[in-house]
Amino acid sequence: MASIELNGECVEAPEGGNLLLAAHTVGVHIPHLCYHPGLSAPVNCRLCVAAVGRGEERRLVPACDVPVSEGLVVDTLADDVAQARAEALEFLLVGHALDCPVCAKAGECELQNYVSAHGRDEGRYAEDAHSHQKTDLGPRIRLYADRCIDCSRCIRFCDEVAQSGELARVDRGEQAHVGVFPGRVLDNPLAGNVVDLCPVGALVEKDAHLGPPVWQLRGVDSICSGCSAGCNVRVDVHREKVIRVKPRFNPEVNDYWLCDGGRYGWQNADEAQRVHHPLIRRGQEFAQVEWDEALAQVDKRMALCEGEAIAASFSANSTNEEAYLFAHLVRDIWRARWVMLRGCQDSEGDQHFGGGFTIRADKTPNARGVADVAAQLAVEFLSPDRIWPEMAEGRVRAAFFLAGHPRERLTEAEREALAGVEFLVVQTAFESELSQMASVVLPGATAFEKTGTFTNVDGRVQCNRRIVLPPGLAWPDWRILSRLGQAAGLHWTYDDPTEIAVALGEQQVAALTEVPEGRSGQVYGGGWATRLQRLGFIHVEDHSKRV
Ligand code: SF4
Ligand code: SF4
Ligand code: FES
Repeated sequence: MASIELNGECVEAPEGGNLLLAAHTVGVHIPHLCYHPGLSAPVNCRLCVAAVGRGEERRLVPACDVPVSEGLVVDTLADDVAQARAEALEFLLVGHALDCPVCAKAGECELQNYVSAHGRDEGRYAEDAHSHQKTDLGPRIRLYADRCIDCSRCIRFCDEVAQSGELARVDRGEQAHVGVFPGRVLDNPLAGNVVDLCPVGALVEKDAHLGPPVWQLRGVDSICSGCSAGCNVRVDVHREKVIRVKPRFNPEVNDYWLCDGGRYGWQNADEAQRVHHPLIRRGQEFAQVEWDEALAQVDKRMALCEGEAIAASFSANSTNEEAYLFAHLVRDIWRARWVMLRGCQDSEGDQHFGGGFTIRADKTPNARGVADVAAQLAVEFLSPDRIWPEMAEGRVRAAFFLAGHPRERLTEAEREALAGVEFLVVQTAFESELSQMASVVLPGATAFEKTGTFTNVDGRVQCNRRIVLPPGLAWPDWRILSRLGQAAGLHWTYDDPTEIAVALGEQQVAALTEVPEGRSGQVYGGGWATRLQRLGFIHVEDHSKRV
């Protein structure tokens, strides 16, 4: 560490680190545009100006390019610093279309905010700026080149993180602008990050102008459920409708980034396939019924088959709390003999990118957590290859499948095996081949519609939050399982997944002599997080101090 003088105060900062970041960590924000902490520093906008040194040594420098050293004297408040900053902004506005009222970035534009806080009241440049046509760079992203301030964040991201290199400065002189190389499109698996990185409205999603203005959005911190990486996200909602998913900084998991699967994949969910009501098969048709009737039917029929003749399938899409309830039902009530865990693996394997960002081949959020919870309750998974033949030979009379992955398909052999099961319960958010074969369908929730914890591939327990309500009569899965437990005579009075998490946490802590390595997660949420943390189940981290 080095001692530096910053605006008259003596502060400690990491020696050799960048001055802009060092100032930020002690609460002094230095305006900047081209610099981004996840990328290299090109030092091209000159907005991050600060005065360093004293007397004749004093000079104005870009803070993103100054290493911290012992005794460094820094002033970010002096009049000449403010004037240089205002002039840098004025210069950036020379080529920038002043169309804030119709720009999709308005309200969260870094340039707009800086000009409003640090800019001159009037610009002195009277010539018309060169105008460019808007251009589609890829399937989702549009370039408004006359808003571009040439910060090069988007180009550096494609070179350094996505490592796809399709973006560059093209043309010359006043015609020069950001574009894709001939024959290329901006469609790499991380392409959406350039929209977040662009400090102005030059790169936007094509449909961004159709949504509500950003100041009407409510952000909820949660976890992406698109794969086992468990990227931290903020889900923006407007009138109980999910509008967009943005990355939330976590240096241990996803840094500043999201993949396009996590960012846009939820838009592909087919609402027409949602199960809205509990369903009971009557002949070839399903009848919509009330919850009490469906739960009573499941309880009665499972009790008739209790023991040897029952199979149960956990889902790697369940939260830890749901897995905990299901494991109790499987072990203590149904005494299922054949138990398996179903997931969803991408055959192409993990995809690795610059800086360590990884899209996992396991397309479920919680395979590790469900396996951990089941092991804790001494529930042993068998290979599905051992269970399907038992079904096919008629030795399984009843089976309960918990919320499968929306993309899951059955093989011909699996379909034939399930046809031999007398009573099949499927708890799921979406209609599927599996639910079509069920005796009873219990309508569950998607990850956006329920709260609970997921354990990612590295063993980090993180909090997934309910963003919107499930449709129709659908319930969060923990509530369905809790009510099934009550129907079977268990004293489960859970009204909230928090209570289940605490019960699970207490059990885990009771079984542990120390909290294992990697058992930590980024969780915000007052009482719940505090209590779980005290129990040692999670470790709360706060990365909100990003630049
Ligand atoms: S398009 Fe945006 S991110 Fe890319 S150089 Fe221009 S202003 Fe920077
Ligand atoms: S890598 Fe996985 S967890 Fe991260 S955003 Fe993509 S799908 Fe979601
Ligand atoms: S942020 Fe330092 S020069 Fe642009």
